[in-house]
Amino acid sequence: MTIQEETQSFIKVPQHIAIIMDGNGRWATARGLHRLAGHNAGAENLRTIIQAGVDFGIQYLTFYAFSTENWSRPKGEVEGLMQILTDVIDQEAAELHQQGARLIHIGKLEGLPPTLQEKIRNAVELTKGNGRITIVLALNYGGRDEIVHAVQRMLKDQIDPEKVDQALLSDYMFTAGIPDPDLVIRTSGEQRTSNFLTWQTVYSEWYFPTVYWPDFNKEELAKAIEEFGNRNRRFGGLSEA
Ligand code: IPE
Ligand code: IPE
Ligand code: MG
Repeated sequence: MTIQEETQSFIKVPQHIAIIMDGNGRWATARGLHRLAGHNAGAENLRTIIQAGVDFGIQYLTFYAFSTENWSRPKGEVEGLMQILTDVIDQEAAELHQQGARLIHIGKLEGLPPTLQEKIRNAVELTKGNGRITIVLALNYGGRDEIVHAVQRMLKDQIDPEKVDQALLSDYMFTAGIPDPDLVIRTSGEQRTSNFLTWQTVYSEWYFPTVYWPDFNKEELAKAIEEFGNRNRRFGGLSEA
């Protein structure tokens, strides 16, 4: 099937899909493996879903990789995750660049291990001119933390309170310039936001497949887009228009 044929078979394609990649640990435990094996499988799956996103004509794909709350996990798991994320960015940066993908990071970079920070900065710099798809990596990200950070920066910039509106606040978020997600997918059957894109998802459509993240493949993504096509987004009005 060509890209065009695939895209045409959908009623409508979301411009921005954001994914809470959940269930790596349970995926591993169900196989008698260590939780980190699940995180490895989950990281592998990023490549599959980015390629699928490109094939389906998605313009923005956001991945929630590590939350501000995930620091409370056992030290070994946190360290393992940081290593996996460092390796995945190291290995995939050139490939992303070749695909015409731009990488953006949201969250607090400063809190991450220095090597990971450097890999992210380099990958962002390398891919900044690309426009085929934008991959947004939420790493050391929290929605409430983002709002606090935005308020702090606005105060530092001595913004006139009268000038504060929703558009200005959006510009102070980590996601400045990125359209709000049309569709948020959380794998593994959990149905909560876990501090993800608090400001940006007020009118997103939510979709909760029960598969664990490592098993969420191109077909699953297609199902999510199909479901999205059947949703009627009214934004408080009476019809989709
Ligand atoms: C998601 O998988 C990945 C991260 C939060 C880093 P989990 O590690 O939360 O997997 P479960 O929910 O324990 O199965
Ligand atoms: C959300 O998953 C964070 C990421 C997927 C990165 P968690 O597994 O951390 O969320 P809770 O703890 O179940 O809410
Ligand atoms: Mg989880």
